[in-house]
Amino acid sequence: MARRFRGARIVVASHNAGKVAEIAELLAPCEIEIGSAGALGLAEPEETGTTFRENAALKALACAGAAGEVALSDDSGLAVAALGGAPGIHSARWGGPGRDFALAMRRVEEALAPDADRRAAFVCALALAWPDRHVEIFEGRIDGHLVWPPRGERGFGYDPIFVPRGGSLTFGEMEPATKHAISHRAAAFRDLAAACLARGPRPAG
Ligand code: IMP
Repeated sequence: MARRFRGARIVVASHNAGKVAEIAELLAPCEIEIGSAGALGLAEPEETGTTFRENAALKALACAGAAGEVALSDDSGLAVAALGGAPGIHSARWGGPGRDFALAMRRVEEALAPDADRRAAFVCALALAWPDRHVEIFEGRIDGHLVWPPRGERGFGYDPIFVPRGGSLTFGEMEPATKHAISHRAAAFRDLAAACLARGPRPAG
């Protein structure tokens, strides 16, 4: 059985404002106060894992250890079928040191042959870690395909080139609430919330 979170505050182990905002929105119904590794000035650990799950766990554990509080991390990325799952765990790095996602999206497009299979998926691993090094990990995924040129100004990262299966709008064109209802992050969060979180106010103590 998963360990349940019974506190009042969780630190989001991320310096990515887009991710922190999406996670804060997902946590809103749980009435949990949110901190972030960025706001606490915590260092970002090196992502040495070879899977989304490993990287999520190492980020949450590093943050929980440094903050002395329960920490929630997200490791996610875009997996393109014709590129053998790349950029995958290296999705942020494809934007270069400046995390330039116009560049990252162009690199993905240029890596694809003109007649390539354009199927892709966003994958997200969420890890909830305690300062005693206990960790719970949940993974979510959404399948879809890539479009070019990028469309829409919403969201972050690769959102403007990803259309979820069965849809016609990119994540970058969608209302945030529509993305949040179906995204890889929402899927992982649903499992995490069911296993580890209580909805609404927690009992005192
Ligand atoms: P991480 O911080 O190493 O997990 O980097 C994840 C990267 O994957 C982000 O910087 C984005 O480029 C990409 N990514 C993850 N989730 C999303 C999403 O919901 N939309 C668009 N891009 C995403």
